[in-house]
Amino acid sequence: MSLRVMSFWKKFRTIVITGASSGIGAAFVPKLREKCPDAHIYGLSRRVPAEGETVDYEAISVDLTDLTGLQRLEEDFSRIFRNGPVLLINNSGYGLYGPFSPQDVDKHLNMIDLNVKAPVWMVGKALPWMRREGGAIINVASTAGFQPTPFLSTYGATKAFLLHWSMGLHYDLKKDGIRVLALCPGPTATDFFKRAGFEGKVVPDAFGQTSEEVVQAALRALEKNRSLVVSGWKNKMLMAVSSKLPKAFGTAVSARVLAKIRQ
Ligand SMILES: NC(=O)c1ccc[n+]([C@@H]2O[C@H](COP(=O)([O-])OP(=O)(O)OC[C@H]3O[C@@H](n4cnc5c(N)ncnc54)[C@H](OP(=O)(O)O)[C@@H]3O)[C@@H](O)[C@H]2O)c1
Repeated sequence: MSLRVMSFWKKFRTIVITGASSGIGAAFVPKLREKCPDAHIYGLSRRVPAEGETVDYEAISVDLTDLTGLQRLEEDFSRIFRNGPVLLINNSGYGLYGPFSPQDVDKHLNMIDLNVKAPVWMVGKALPWMRREGGAIINVASTAGFQPTPFLSTYGATKAFLLHWSMGLHYDLKKDGIRVLALCPGPTATDFFKRAGFEGKVVPDAFGQTSEEVVQAALRALEKNRSLVVSGWKNKMLMAVSSKLPKAFGTAVSARVLAKIRQ
């Protein structure tokens, strides 16, 4: 690691990761612990560690879709943001698999609250501090954000929002010296698919990535001040093709692929 890269990581005093309780969010913790030895790491999610379970971060229990929870979190921020630059990782999120159905509308709205509203809220609340003290932001979008995703329509649309919003913010916040990265993992072996309503093994070993590989790609991209990273060369190739397809054709291809993944 060059001296410049080392000093980029060493400056962080506070790291806030939403959804550090599992999957990709959990994989950020040990890597950042190595790179940012002076930082205090906070993990924000609903589940707090069970008795006897040890985690290498301070857990704050919050449902990021709940207004009262967010208001309580705002009070916590005066304690969390105490000194120096902050790294904010908006990672909490989930998907819902299946054709859109009116019975599920509340679930879809809850997903929009978590995948879209919460990251906007978090950035809005952290930004005044970051402007004064410095900071960086990683928003976990997805390769699902590159094209419409039938059977995962709302999920894909939330990730398209995060992808475009983050890349826009990258420029908006340049003058403040705040780096913003859109992280787009493809299929990754986590609890995501089970929570989304898939059954059985969805990610074939030859195609999927591990959370650690995704995190590695994110940290390298942030070091280079990229606005976007698609993790993994297979995903990169797929997205290079998929983003060039005419929208309606790309949607039809994506429908064929996603219809095959049975519940
Ligand atoms: N796995 C993939 O294939 C894949 C691909 C592309 C993008 N992603 C994205 O990666 C991110 C992380 O997902 P993952 O794959 O690591 O899945 P995961 O293991 O299911 O992790 C999801 C995280 O979100 C948190 N969360 C869920 N509901 C929440 C709420 N209401 N308030 C606060 N936190 C909440 C969960 O914590 P609690 O349950 O403790 O609240 C958990 O830590 C998501 O944004 C997902 O869309 C995943």
